[in-house]
Amino acid sequence: MLGNWWRSAFGGGAYPLIEATRKPEWRRRTRSEVAFLRRALGLRRGAKLLDVACGTGRHSIEFSKSGILATGFDYSSRYLAEARREARKARADVRWVRGDMRRLPFRPEFDAAINLFSSFGYFTRGSDDDRVLRGIGRALKPGGVFAIEIVNGDFIYEHLDTSLRKGWPVTHWGQVADGVLTLEDPRLLRKQRAVVTDWIFFTKQGRREMTSFFRLRSRESFAAAFRKAGLRLERSFGGLDGSPFDAERSRRMLLIARKGAA
Ligand SMILES: C[S@@+](CC[C@H](N)C(=O)[O-])C[C@H]1O[C@@H](n2cnc3c(N)ncnc32)[C@H](O)[C@@H]1O
Repeated sequence: MLGNWWRSAFGGGAYPLIEATRKPEWRRRTRSEVAFLRRALGLRRGAKLLDVACGTGRHSIEFSKSGILATGFDYSSRYLAEARREARKARADVRWVRGDMRRLPFRPEFDAAINLFSSFGYFTRGSDDDRVLRGIGRALKPGGVFAIEIVNGDFIYEHLDTSLRKGWPVTHWGQVADGVLTLEDPRLLRKQRAVVTDWIFFTKQGRREMTSFFRLRSRESFAAAFRKAGLRLERSFGGLDGSPFDAERSRRMLLIARKGAA
């Protein structure tokens, strides 16, 4: 069922996150992303960080290696098992918690929270997205920061919409990492402002398939959703490389919001 697509896509291991995470190019990228985030979020050693939808824990592990007290939260036991393995190898002391991000079980204990690599907007009910943000708002201490890195929904929507209206082909090849190829076939749900994509992944281990649902949000739509969760948008970038955000040109965005001080 599409409503629960994420359970099998990530829990069942269709999405090749483990293969990608192990690639040297991803390890390098993760290191530089974490270095940038530490600066952008102003995190000091000993700060407490919540990584929502942490996957294989690549960011949490890297943060932990630099003295941050990281908690990685994810639904997929398969990814969390890989996260534990990797953390052991790196001698990184990360707390791993399994659960559904719509029901985050945390009190205001974190200095910062992150949600990276398009790990938001998976639910067919928009109110579920609000539940995730409310949970993040609750988990942050007063004055805590939240960073989300995701596609620029308006950019994708406009391009896809134009292509579909003009009858241009939208099915395309992509690459998650070196040697991990994808064939993506997207269609738009205009009323929900969402994209449903049929994916085929080609890896050394073989061919796997999944269908995803992803809500396409603009920066403004996030700013409004943040407000409902007690968060205020403070800064925007064009991604984890720290480039400037341009609503019409940026494919991705990194939004940094803050919880009001008590
Ligand atoms: C694209 S992956 C990104 C993982 C990680 N942030 C990274 O950058 O490698 C999305 C993650 O969201 C997790 N996820 C999807 N739905 C979830 C849910 N309802 N609750 C918790 N985690 C969920 C998946 O298990 C997966 O690990």
